[in-house]
Amino acid sequence: MIPKDIAKRSAELRNLINQHNYRYYVLDDPSIPDAEYDRLLSELAALEKEYPGLVTPDSPTQRVGAKPLDVFSEVKHAVPMLSLANAFDKEDMDAFDRRVRERLNINIVEYAAETKLDGVAISLLFENGVFVQGATRGDGETGEDVTLNLRTIKAIPLRLMGNYPDLLEVRGEVYMSKKGFSDLNKTQKKKGEKLFANPRNAAAGSLRQLDPNITAQRPLLFFAHGVGQHDRTMLPGTHTEILKKLQKWGLPISPETKMVTGIGQCHAYYRMIGERRADLAYEIDGVVFKVNDIAQQELLGFVSRAPRWAIAWKFQPEEEITKVVDIEVQVGRTGALTPVARLEPVFVGGVTVTNATLHNEDEIRRKDVRAGDTVIIRRAGDVIPEVVRVLQEKRPESARPFQMPRKCPICGSDVERLEGEAVARCSGGLFCSAQQIQSILHFASRLAMDIEGMGDKLVEQLVATGHVRNVADLYTLKQEQLASLDRMGEKSAGNIIQALENSKQTTLNRFLYALGIREVGEATARNLAQHFGNLELIRTANQEELEKVPDIGPIVARHITTFFAQSHNNKIIGRLLDAGITWPKVKASRKKPLSGKTFVITGVLESMKRDEAKERLQTLGAKVSGSVSKKTNYVIAGSDPGSKADKARELNIEILNEKEFLSLLDRNRL
Ligand code: IVH
Repeated sequence: MIPKDIAKRSAELRNLINQHNYRYYVLDDPSIPDAEYDRLLSELAALEKEYPGLVTPDSPTQRVGAKPLDVFSEVKHAVPMLSLANAFDKEDMDAFDRRVRERLNINIVEYAAETKLDGVAISLLFENGVFVQGATRGDGETGEDVTLNLRTIKAIPLRLMGNYPDLLEVRGEVYMSKKGFSDLNKTQKKKGEKLFANPRNAAAGSLRQLDPNITAQRPLLFFAHGVGQHDRTMLPGTHTEILKKLQKWGLPISPETKMVTGIGQCHAYYRMIGERRADLAYEIDGVVFKVNDIAQQELLGFVSRAPRWAIAWKFQPEEEITKVVDIEVQVGRTGALTPVARLEPVFVGGVTVTNATLHNEDEIRRKDVRAGDTVIIRRAGDVIPEVVRVLQEKRPESARPFQMPRKCPICGSDVERLEGEAVARCSGGLFCSAQQIQSILHFASRLAMDIEGMGDKLVEQLVATGHVRNVADLYTLKQEQLASLDRMGEKSAGNIIQALENSKQTTLNRFLYALGIREVGEATARNLAQHFGNLELIRTANQEELEKVPDIGPIVARHITTFFAQSHNNKIIGRLLDAGITWPKVKASRKKPLSGKTFVITGVLESMKRDEAKERLQTLGAKVSGSVSKKTNYVIAGSDPGSKADKARELNIEILNEKEFLSLLDRNRL
């Protein structure tokens, strides 16, 4: 016999867990931390273990643990799963809208506008509110029964909520977010298992597992985008209203779904989603427009395997196939050698791509890209095009693995690769004309000295003619020298001289950034300028002093001291200042090392009383608070720490033990 109170508590837990699931997956508005959710789930699991009679098939504990299958059985779809006609440009889309208007004999059409998710089409059958069967699309008539795998997906409810119809088949898309996909690939890599090419393949591969316990570990999500067989009486008369109903019953729908009226609003929706495509949490390959009125949908009917009432307007694909003509090596400002794939031009992500970065030697080796290979290229948003992978089966026999050159292809100096570094570098320094050109371009760039007109064609000529070898030489240039160059007249030469003159009034942070010290980007340069206030102090600062600057760690500090230890760098700085480069005085902030940081102390410390710990932290500028919140930066936990340490773990706040605390005090001595 199951005691009454236990039965009651288990029902309550089931209900609570389902509610939290709903808030998390359907409303995207969680109200408790994950740890609390897990606690409820383990409480329920414990009760069910003690009283197996409590277990119901729709209990949230029953998502995992099913035994592996030998094969998937077949499922015949009661209503065929159709596909969508495609529009590839505005003309196709306009023609679709015209056909719809003509057939319905109306002037303007109301559409449901949705994103076209790049996932796997799925059908979910609910009988009396309970999820009983889930299937893939297959050939549209018959799919595979993947119920056990779908049960592991928390975004799919095991039981519907509210006033649902007796029979309901939901159609939608199982997919993986971009983040879920990249996390999964990281784990796969760590385990030495095969990587997935894109989120779609990862979702499909995860659903096709015969062992649901593997599927359970994959970050799969679900969006509903329609219905299959159903008991008509309970469904509203428009697609957008049907989706709202599905959401009420517990199914996630896309937050991007909107009702639009007329072709003009279709264009606007397409443009709006296109602009946000790169920022969406999941990949989409287009938008879908569906005639919103169900009665109108029925009038329009179907043609072959697709409805006349819907269309998918595709975006430019972000991946394409092309050939690697050659692999060349580029030399950057700091001498870093970057292998670049020269490609047969290919139109991808809306532009023609002819090069793709291969990053470094390890990356090339990992992907095994060779000249002559056929490859998949990816360009998403504004990012640099990349090689996703090689189509091994298309590799010509003559293709040889790439070798990093031992000598710099520009200046012939030795190439070195330090242990622990991914990057190989030319050791030629400013003797190497590629490094000269790149360092000058960097110096002149907009966020650095902002020398207008100093572009790559000009700098290449200045270096090639020997007029300029380093950045200080720029300020000795004569107008006649400039005017004698290709594509330069008196007038443009005069403009350059003026631009050089204008650049002399700058700021300390711009100047520091312009010097091109390794790993000193714009933000670091600003921090350095603010902390020290003048160049002399930065130039003479030692490692320890530098590490007190916000965001500067040992590696960057070493790059800075190394830079200023080179006499040729100091010579160039001297010449730049002599040329008249100046900046307004900066007030040094040299903040206390822990200012802006909030600490909480819990438990008993051995080496000092809590009050003393507090005072020492405050002397260093820290704030010490009595309770842990999102604003806390560190929790110091002595022995017997209490709930504060738990709270810190929950909020992912760094916890320091006594030893770590003492070393923190030591590192931040005033
Ligand atoms: S509706 C009869 N809506 O695209 C209409 N499909 O090419 C059937 N898809 O198999 C589908 N996002 O897997 C619809 N918002 C969306 C969709 C969508 C992605 C997929 C679906 C379908 C394929 C059709």
